[in-house]
Amino acid sequence: MVLVAIDGPAGSGKSTVASELAARLGLKRLDTGAMYRAVTLLALRAGTDLRAAPELERLARQMTLELDGVKVWLDGEDVSLAIRSAEVDAAVSIVASCPAVRSELVRRQRHWAELQGGGVVEGRDIGSVVFPRADLKIYLTADTEERARRRADQFRSLPDPSSLARRDALDSSRPASPLVVPEGAVLVDSTGRSVEDVVEEVLKYL
Ligand code: DC
Repeated sequence: MVLVAIDGPAGSGKSTVASELAARLGLKRLDTGAMYRAVTLLALRAGTDLRAAPELERLARQMTLELDGVKVWLDGEDVSLAIRSAEVDAAVSIVASCPAVRSELVRRQRHWAELQGGGVVEGRDIGSVVFPRADLKIYLTADTEERARRRADQFRSLPDPSSLARRDALDSSRPASPLVVPEGAVLVDSTGRSVEDVVEEVLKYL
């Protein structure tokens, strides 16, 4: 069983690097950000107060969520696009700061890895909290301008370094599992580099 943990801020290239790495290693990839996005979508649709922890926890526990590495299915509906909306983007950091939601999603993430017998898992707390004993921990970075540009391409919008910086600040300063460089992680800077180049570097550490 091989488990690779990839953490890093928004736009650092985690998703593309994780997909390519998983393909190269013949492993499945788990995008844990998509899981926080799915709970956020449910909460927005239900009109839930985003600070109401018991309500958020109930939504997280009751949902059926399937991720196949490309698409995301929430209670049987393909929400791959809906979870990338501007509304979800703006609200997801609040939902992700709820400890009860985190513990339910972490439980699901560990279960997923157990079923798959390993994998490439990307997020913010993967090497620090979810799989502290991963075979390899990568902390991916890129400079802020480039991260804002990549995010904008992903969302087909204009680059907005200030909103990206705001979300990074929320993700890094929350008390519950903040974004940190995990102990034992290798720092990889993806600024100005191709996916192949970054993946080649990561493979050297395995
Ligand atoms: O990677 P992303 O932008 O899809 O992540 C969405 C949000 O979820 C982001 O604000 C950080 C949060 N997140 C988290 O707190 N823990 C994770 N393991 C993954 C994402």
